Amino acid sequence: MKPKILVTEPIPDKVITHLSSFGKIIQGERGEYNTEEDLIAGLQHADALLCMLSTPVSRKVIENAPKLKVIANFAVGYDNIDVNAAHEKGIRVANTPDVLTEACGDFAMGLLMAVTRKFNEAEQYLREGKFKGWEPLGFLGMELRGKTLGIIGMGRIGQSFAHRARAFGMNIAYHNRNPLPDDITHALDAVYYTDHRQLAREADVLSLNCPLTEGTHHLVDEDILKIMPDHAYLINISRGPVVDEAALARALKEGQIAGAGLDVFEEEPEVHPELIQAPNATILPHIASATFETREAIGMLAANAIISVLKGKKDSEIPNLITG
Ligand code: GLV
Repeated sequence: MKPKILVTEPIPDKVITHLSSFGKIIQGERGEYNTEEDLIAGLQHADALLCMLSTPVSRKVIENAPKLKVIANFAVGYDNIDVNAAHEKGIRVANTPDVLTEACGDFAMGLLMAVTRKFNEAEQYLREGKFKGWEPLGFLGMELRGKTLGIIGMGRIGQSFAHRARAFGMNIAYHNRNPLPDDITHALDAVYYTDHRQLAREADVLSLNCPLTEGTHHLVDEDILKIMPDHAYLINISRGPVVDEAALARALKEGQIAGAGLDVFEEEPEVHPELIQAPNATILPHIASATFETREAIGMLAANAIISVLKGKKDSEIPNLITG
């Protein structure tokens, strides 16, 4: 009998065709498995789970999934999965590193330009019929050349953003648990900060590219926002809870910082009402990896991890398994 694979949301056809050649797909509708109860019900007969970053794969879910052998997240971040609980039950967990790096680097650069050059505000002005002619003092923004991009979390995506920012003439500074190897630092001419507060104090743009963990929850809080220069911008394409959203909404309102480009939110899909109103925030619905090419590649990588586990391949033969 073919193994059963629960796919919690519609994903690219190519991935479904690929998975169908191996197992029987239980296909979810949008949002159908976003509660623990619905997910537990859906997992009763499933051998494998291909889930989204919005799928709550908690300990309770894992302990109530009698046949589950593998979980593959359709995302690189996997803070929605209790990996320890899965490993305790011998369930393998996979994510999708590398394949979305360039799409996210492009997106971060675009978001930075959009917020520093006021794309959204200016577009709205035009759409509202307020554009009456070229204005020498209209929608002035911050130029990027010579400014410092401070990156917290200099992994693959942080580095891809940094490379793009270098091409725009920005200086790169970063904070990580450990400094990067010299060849990478030299290629980016990047300066390492042991203290992320010092980085926040000195950067013209502070970008969050770290995973969400207990250690990074509310890493950007009221105190950090206060020490950032008032001309500085915050970019967040990592996870919403890395920022205290209420504190950010206040900081934007009071002009403590100049603006924020946000693709992620603390209580997705909810967005703090004051951020919705904030003219100096560019806010987007978690779309950093949303290109045709990347979403297909994400799906294929997740699908291949599922197929490999169900075929009984060794962990060492499955590059995107999360270990430890
Ligand atoms: C998207 O946020 C991802 O983690 O892939």
